[in-house]
Amino acid sequence: MFVSECLNVNEKGHLTIGGCDTVELAKEYGTPLYVIDEDTVRNTCRSYVNSMKKYYNGNGLPLYASKALSCKALVQLAMSENMGLDVVSGGELYTAMQAGFPAEKIQFHGNNKTDEELEMALEYNIGRVVVDNLYELERLNSLAEERNRTVKIAMRIKPGIDAHTHDFIRTGQIDSKFGFALETGEAMEAVKKTFEFKNVELTELHCHIGSQIFDIDPFVSAAEVMMDFISDIKKQTGHLISELNLGGGFGIMYTSADNPTAYDNYMNAVSKAVTAKAEEHNIPVPFIYIEPGRSLVGEAGITLYTVGGRKEIPNVRTYVSVDGGMTDNIRYALYGSAYTVVNACKADKEPDDKVTVAGKCCESGDLVQKDTMVAKAETGDILAVLSTGAYNYSMASNYNRNPRPAMVMVKDGKSRLIIKRETYQDIVMNDLDL
Ligand code: LLP
Repeated sequence: MFVSECLNVNEKGHLTIGGCDTVELAKEYGTPLYVIDEDTVRNTCRSYVNSMKKYYNGNGLPLYASKALSCKALVQLAMSENMGLDVVSGGELYTAMQAGFPAEKIQFHGNNKTDEELEMALEYNIGRVVVDNLYELERLNSLAEERNRTVKIAMRIKPGIDAHTHDFIRTGQIDSKFGFALETGEAMEAVKKTFEFKNVELTELHCHIGSQIFDIDPFVSAAEVMMDFISDIKKQTGHLISELNLGGGFGIMYTSADNPTAYDNYMNAVSKAVTAKAEEHNIPVPFIYIEPGRSLVGEAGITLYTVGGRKEIPNVRTYVSVDGGMTDNIRYALYGSAYTVVNACKADKEPDDKVTVAGKCCESGDLVQKDTMVAKAETGDILAVLSTGAYNYSMASNYNRNPRPAMVMVKDGKSRLIIKRETYQDIVMNDLDL
């Protein structure tokens, strides 16, 4: 019935997560409230870590793509499961350092890192800076030179693979702002350029073809293209790239229409392709990184709202308004994303009420879901939106000066706050008087 195993229904007919009654959680912590199930995240981390053992003899490291949900507790959870970390801004890097994450297991992405961010990367001595363009390569080299040191880099490559996902979250094709294109020769030129710079050391190639992808084939094709490129680089320059980062992008279940493949199947298929290419080109299998974000936290999280008014517009539709919306989940407004909505107070009842769940912002497009089926949603009911663990809190805003919600982590029927609810004081904190 539900998208995730951590969800259930108790004897009161209430939705539970991690053994906690969601209606009680809403009472205790208030709404809107993000809730995340610890075991679900841990189990997924473990499956990625174990698959590196199984398919690459342990010569691999899954990095948690913290853009999906960055906060100290989640970064610490990833750390405790022996994951590495992918950060994409000074803010995510700072969060990781504050959380005590080992710097050498951090990789820094982004198509326009500022000097301040590059300096942070050098200062903290992180594992790899993933270089996106020549301008960045030059700046990083001179910043490292000023410090009289070298820095290990990865290079972001557009492998030319077109993944079937939403336009805004496709990244592997040539028309993308990220990385160096393979088919134009740009990538090879850039690789050769790195060898001219004395203060950068190219150890890794990186690709990421997009997000929320269900097909295995594009992942396999990307891995093959990248292995061919490693071989070409060796032939043309004699230099052997020893690490390959295959990115993230594994799809999750938002509604029953989604049918994600077990992550192990991707890992199995891709590792076979990598091994076959290594044999074909007579090069060693590189150390493998992957960067799952959504698949680690997405299905583990839900959002709880309280229903306010209900507006039935005859022959048009029925709106139920909730106390959050695009400020805590912008994905419907931005991508038209589908979600499963459950009336948490009546989770044992048939979803027979067709409603449009509207947020509270002064914006017609502020909808959480349009024309979705729930058990009769009445004022005061708690609505749960499922699979909101990824790209919800991390994309939240203060539009209309709404404070960002709190987040609690649940496990074995117990809950604890991991992100405090913002207050109105927080909202005006940086404002100065006229
Ligand atoms: N690595 C790189 C370089 C990425 O750009 C991304 C996601 C990931 C890893 C993690 O991908 P995942 O496993 O989470 O699919 N805001 C959009 C998603 C943007 C994804 C950006 N990059 C959404 O809400 O769907």
